[in-house]
Amino acid sequence: MAAPVVDAEYLRQVDRARRQLRALISNKGCAPIMLRLAWHDAGTYDVNTKTGGANGSIRFEEEYTHGSNAGLKIAIDLLEPIKAQNPKITYADLYQLAGVVAVEVTGGPTVEFVPGRRDSSVCPREGRLPDAKKGAPHLRDIFYRMGLTDKDIVALSGGHTLGRAHPERSGFEGAWTQEPLKFDNSYFLELLKGESEGLLQLPTDKALLSDPKFRHYVELYAKDEDAFFKDYAESHKKLSELGFTPR
Ligand code: HEM
Repeated sequence: MAAPVVDAEYLRQVDRARRQLRALISNKGCAPIMLRLAWHDAGTYDVNTKTGGANGSIRFEEEYTHGSNAGLKIAIDLLEPIKAQNPKITYADLYQLAGVVAVEVTGGPTVEFVPGRRDSSVCPREGRLPDAKKGAPHLRDIFYRMGLTDKDIVALSGGHTLGRAHPERSGFEGAWTQEPLKFDNSYFLELLKGESEGLLQLPTDKALLSDPKFRHYVELYAKDEDAFFKDYAESHKKLSELGFTPR
């Protein structure tokens, strides 16, 4: 299937949506939930069956009501006015653009955004996203299914530099870092410090310490923020393009 034609008008709307997203995300302080929306739309990808991925299917009730997506309807609704003002842009592109802008406006690296994703109305079955109560083998099962690597797993886990867990959504509570609206390498510094009063570490976060291959990257990213930003930007671009071949 051919990608939708990204013509000059489409690109003009992408530029305008990008500006509108900057304003929305800084005014509402909603960078974390936008990043989580982008990740949960893309992270359903299955490299073997080529199903799921960054295809906008999370906009449907069937998918956003999956347990792991609790709360994400808030982000979907916040993006509707921007979709309405830029109707050429697919939901798939808009959600990934929101994720990229969320990282940018909170001080993170620039993640290259290539438009042209197609929308799908086929929702994956529940259970493709990681379970926070599990360990390293589960993380590998899930991320290898997306076609991603150990390095991607650790770099992308650094997304938890933003935001917090909400008891009514996931059953977990608290932020991973002292400044959850700032994108930096503090997630890795906190992880290495161990449990501290008021901050959260999920079992899947701690798994990055106990597995030696993962731990190598945790230590690297804690001591070298530039290395984290470089790898994060590459891994985030891969995540944002799961199921999409830019042309
Ligand atoms: C929040 C699990 C990977 C970005 C959360 C929450 C859980 C979770 C349980 C709390 C949700 C809530 O209660 O509101 C996991 C697991 C992962 C993972 C098990 C496996 C490695 C990622 C990745 C990214 C990401 C790859 C992005 C690159 C976020 C963000 C939030 C969040 C930004 C905060 C949302 C908010 O403040 O509303 N994650 N996550 N996570 N996750 Fe992850």
